[in-house]
Amino acid sequence: MRWRAMEAGDLDGVVAVARIAFPDHPESRTCFEERLALAPGSCFVLEGERGVAGYLIAYPWPRGAIPPLDTLLGGLPENRDSWYLHDLALLPEARGGGNARAGLALLFGQIDAPIALVSVNESAAFWQAQGFVPQDSPELRAKLSSYGPDARYMVRGVTKPG
Ligand SMILES: CC(C)(COP(=O)(O)OP(=O)(O)OC[C@H]1O[C@@H](n2cnc3c(N)ncnc32)[C@H](O)[C@@H]1OP(=O)(O)O)[C@@H](O)C(=O)NCCC(=O)NCCS
Repeated sequence: MRWRAMEAGDLDGVVAVARIAFPDHPESRTCFEERLALAPGSCFVLEGERGVAGYLIAYPWPRGAIPPLDTLLGGLPENRDSWYLHDLALLPEARGGGNARAGLALLFGQIDAPIALVSVNESAAFWQAQGFVPQDSPELRAKLSSYGPDARYMVRGVTKPG
């Protein structure tokens, strides 16, 4: 399996992986299509023998702002000093062999700015091992309400919480 840049022809495969990986947080195909159109340089797929086995989507986004689920962004901010890792997801059979770590290494190699995300699926320990630090405030908790009770806002590449 290898990571490569995501292309429009991968979108059906990306949606299929998302349905399996995030059954409680479905997002429409148009959301994935929009992210790829807005930030093609930071969207990747893990190519397996039978097609897309995983994907990673990231884009510039203001720190502390959390895009609502299943919503079009409408555009990207001009300020690119922070990024948002929207999704990293693998098919179950592609997990556990370092594939997620390899995809993140691609992203970290090209972004020299803080990267934020919302951890779900009880993945906070995975993200912490990748250098992400949980952040907490009443404002963040309110913004996370649609993501479920285990959701955490986490940031990599900052020296202090905030
Ligand atoms: C989370 C996910 C991307 C991890 O993929 P993976 O292929 O298992 O990850 P890797 O094999 O690259 O693991 C890298 C390291 O993280 C560890 N790890 C993996 N999943 C973990 C978890 N849920 N909690 C703690 N550590 C975890 C691995 O043991 C490995 O540790 P090592 O560096 O000591 O060897 C994958 O389980 C997945 O797609 N889950 C469904 C979607 C999801 O929940 N995405 C994240 C939501 S924000």
